[in-house]
Amino acid sequence: MAETVMKLSNIKKTYGKVIKTDVLHGINLDFENHSFTSIIGQSGSGKSTLMNIMGTLDVPSEGSIEIFNQRTDNMDKNALSTLRNETIGFIFQHHYLLPEFSALENILMPYRIQHNKVPKAVMEYALELIELVGLSKVKDNLATEMSGGQQQRVAIARALINKPKIILADEPTGALDSETTNQIYKLLRKINRTYGTTFIVITHDRKIAEKTDRMIELTDGKVTLDVTIE
Ligand SMILES: Nc1ncnc2c1ncn2[C@@H]1O[C@H](COP(=O)(O)OP(=O)(O)O)[C@@H](O)[C@H]1O
Ligand SMILES: [Mg+2]
Repeated sequence: MAETVMKLSNIKKTYGKVIKTDVLHGINLDFENHSFTSIIGQSGSGKSTLMNIMGTLDVPSEGSIEIFNQRTDNMDKNALSTLRNETIGFIFQHHYLLPEFSALENILMPYRIQHNKVPKAVMEYALELIELVGLSKVKDNLATEMSGGQQQRVAIARALINKPKIILADEPTGALDSETTNQIYKLLRKINRTYGTTFIVITHDRKIAEKTDRMIELTDGKVTLDVTIE
């Protein structure tokens, strides 16, 4: 049996105090180390809500999350942010690159936030990541001097700089054309194979989802499909 990196037990989410909206209705899911899972579902089905809870950016109304067998519901803020910073990388539809910094500087930013100096080994790893995402030639360009696809590649390398075991991606290619989308998914798969990073990726593109190891569909806050793809 492969190691479980994340376990969701009976996750429920209700938004609002006066007018209540039930968004997630008891989600139970386990994710195995090194796996590549896609989550599909219509707009409003609760995908982003679930991913924010998986990433400990939001808390469920009921239920619990275990990350590497550690329950997160009784952790204090500091312990939780340490666990998050050490284990999870995020990729969003909008990359949130800092426009006044170069591609390389943006990639190093999550490291710099926690450390004063960038040691040689980390700089070398950043350059390895730049190479991996195919941006060596433009590493010193400002984020604003890059195409949408290049900017998302920078965001992917940035998500990897702290060597997370898990990457959560919420519609990472939602703003990109289909050719660039295919290239980005090939890159994510390459990272999954190269570093063994576990991927959980939300996509509205079923064709993309069918290329992953496992496809989960959310419908109105419930898991209505959970299939392993051979
Ligand atoms: N902060 C919030 N407050 C209230 N309702 C929210 C909030 N975030 C999302 N919702 C609602 O929860 C439902 C699921 O949203 P979301 O998780 O963003 O779905 P998806 O990512 O699948 O499109 C939607 O009906 C949305 O309007
Ligand atoms: Mg969403």
